[in-house]
Amino acid sequence: MPVSSKISAALTNASWIRKMFEIGLTLKKQYGSQNVYDFSLGNPDLESPPEFTAALIEESKKSGPLVHGYMPNAGYIETRQAVANLLTKESDIGFSADHVTMTIGAAGALNVLLKSILEPGEEVIVIAPFFAEYDFYIDNHQGVRVIAESTPDLLPNFENIESKITSKTRALLINTPNNPTGRVYGEKVLRDLSFLLESASKKFGKPIYLIADAPYKKIIFDGLSCISPFLFYRNAILATSFSKDLSLAGERIGYLAVSPYADDDKDIINAATFCNRVLGYVNAPALMQRVIPHVLDVQVNVPIYQRRRDLLYSALTEIGYEIVKPEGTFYIFPKCPIDDDIQFVQALQEKLILTTPGTGFHRKGYFRIAYCVSEDIIRRSIPGFKAVFDKFTKR
Ligand SMILES: Cc1ncc(COP(=O)(O)O)c(C=O)c1O
Repeated sequence: MPVSSKISAALTNASWIRKMFEIGLTLKKQYGSQNVYDFSLGNPDLESPPEFTAALIEESKKSGPLVHGYMPNAGYIETRQAVANLLTKESDIGFSADHVTMTIGAAGALNVLLKSILEPGEEVIVIAPFFAEYDFYIDNHQGVRVIAESTPDLLPNFENIESKITSKTRALLINTPNNPTGRVYGEKVLRDLSFLLESASKKFGKPIYLIADAPYKKIIFDGLSCISPFLFYRNAILATSFSKDLSLAGERIGYLAVSPYADDDKDIINAATFCNRVLGYVNAPALMQRVIPHVLDVQVNVPIYQRRRDLLYSALTEIGYEIVKPEGTFYIFPKCPIDDDIQFVQALQEKLILTTPGTGFHRKGYFRIAYCVSEDIIRRSIPGFKAVFDKFTKR
């Protein structure tokens, strides 16, 4: 067989998000793209801020030796220092450039980190529902993914997490604001998680890292803000990107930052920098690294996402869908009115509405709507959401 059995199996079980995306392409050819309500992919549709475009134009004019060359594998010192200044502002903890490695998006950050810290067979706890790529990222580096189910309101369940911690646990991986639920962890949740990890680290005599995957950290609504994971726990590591808050998903730019209070903070960053190289990423894209310091305090027009959230939340709850109201991201995660989320999502598909079954995020009985689409599409999709809900509830 030309392809390894592991990858063959992964391809056979291809991600639900991708599957729906591909079905969408076929339906759009058949019915025209305006008539397909494609909520399958978290590909941000808002324009990048004008400050980004202006900085990109300026930076792209620069020429000279090494403008497009390799740089230290961790990234340009100026960019890492600018990110460190931002983190210091957010947390009041003194970060330096040496606590930051620039990466190929948040996905790159997670992969270099997991490669850096995992011994074969060590466990990483994730809270379901979760972004399914974590399964691959953890497996890429010979780790074992352990699931702790969330509470009914889709927040961390402390008892569940505690019961999953063993001598093999290396890290708890959290994602706030969350894909697929849109939930944002508040101060109490982060404090309690930190307390739990602190006492488990003591019990097992080694640090259990809190890895915060936070590419949606600026896409937050209702005046809330994303609380820095560094505030309450010293062995915290942030993996993030500008894919969502600057709509730069295709440009592949993000970073990894380790708390200055972490045990072995410099060793972890040195290892991550090395892993950036040997995983073949080498370094994050040079041009994007030069642009980033100019745009650290701007983001896309987040109120547009909030308006779409409001529109969907009120229309769907009025129909009868049960939903925990999301506080951020561009996802909403309603409960299906039947147990079988795949059957439900297929029924939506017949109305040309493309969503992703909760099964794709390890949570049966739910489905994810990614609202990176216009308000017009959202409004025109509502009768379809109603027809399918009624079909299963009014017999
Ligand atoms: C929760 C989560 N983590 C990580 C990523 C990967 O982000 P990036 O494109 O910056 O690598 C995504 C992308 O959708 C995501 O939703």
